[in-house]
Amino acid sequence: MIRIVNLTKCFGKHKALDNLNLEIPAGEIFAFIGPNGAGKTTTVKLLSGLLKPTSGSVSICGYDVQKEHIKVKKIIGLLPDRPFIYSKLTGIEFLQIIGDIYGIPGNEQKSRIPELITMFGMDEFINELIESYSHGMRQRLILASILLRQPKVLILDEPLVGLDPKMARLVKDMFIELSNRGITIFMCTHILELAEKLSHRIGIIDNGRLIALGSKEELIEKLKGTASLEDIYLKLTNASQMGTEETNTNGDGGN
Ligand SMILES: Nc1ncnc2c1ncn2[C@@H]1O[C@H](COP(=O)(O)OP(=O)(O)OP(=O)(O)O)[C@@H](O)[C@H]1O
Ligand SMILES: [Mg+2]
Repeated sequence: MIRIVNLTKCFGKHKALDNLNLEIPAGEIFAFIGPNGAGKTTTVKLLSGLLKPTSGSVSICGYDVQKEHIKVKKIIGLLPDRPFIYSKLTGIEFLQIIGDIYGIPGNEQKSRIPELITMFGMDEFINELIESYSHGMRQRLILASILLRQPKVLILDEPLVGLDPKMARLVKDMFIELSNRGITIFMCTHILELAEKLSHRIGIIDNGRLIALGSKEELIEKLKGTASLEDIYLKLTNASQMGTEETNTNGDGGN
C-alpha cells in the first residue's frame, strides 16, 4: 500500500532522511519511532507530498506521490505535527467544508458528521469557534475530519498528543478497527507503549537512517537479552549515536 524507494531528503548539507526503503502492506499499523530530529516528520511530509524528495520515490496504492498527488491526496488522511485549521470557523463548519472539498454527498455528511461528533465527544463545543479550542479538542476535530473522508491510508504524526486518556483509548481502539478493515496506518510516535501494543511492525529511525525494522517480537529476538521496546530503542539509538554498527537490525548490514 505504501512503497518507499531510496528516499532521501537533504536540507542544505544536512541529510534529514537517508535512503529509506520500506514497504507497508494494506491493513498494517506501522509505528515510526526515533529521537527528536531523527527524520520522522520529514518522512511524513514526503509521504504526503508536502515535501519534494531530494532523490527516491514514494507510491501509495500504486500512485506516485509526486506525479499523481491529487489521486494520492484523495486516498490519504494526514494528521500533521502542527495542523493548520482556520480558527474563525466553528467545528461543524470545518467538518462540512472538508466534506464539500472531498465531494462527500450532502446526505452522507448529514448522517456521518453527527456520528463523528458523538464518537469524539464533541457535542458540547462543535458550534464554538475553533480559536477557543484546547489542543486536544483540535486534535479530536482533525481526527474526525480525517475519518469523515474514509481514507485508505492514514499518515499520522503524533496522533495521541494532547488527547486525554479516555480519548486516547478511543483512538487506539479505532486504529485497530480501521486496520482490521484493511486501512493502512503509518504513525510517528514517542509513545513507545503505543508502538508496542498497536503496531504490527516498528521502524526505528535515527539521524535520518532506518536502524531497525520488524515486529516487536522480531526486534526482541534479534537483540537477545533485551526485554522491552524501551530497552531496544535506547540500546539502538545510543549505539547509533556512538557510530556502532553491530546493532543494526534491519537486515541490510547497516548500509
Ligand atoms: N524545513 C526544514 N529546513 C531545514 N531543516 C529541517 C527542516 N525540516 C526539518 N529539518 C531538519 O531535519 C531533521 C529531521 O527533522 P524532523 O522534523 O523530521 O525530525 P523528527 O524525527 O520529526 O523529530 P521530533 O521527534 O522532534 O518531531 C532535523 O535535523 C531538522 O532540524
Ligand atoms: Mg516530528
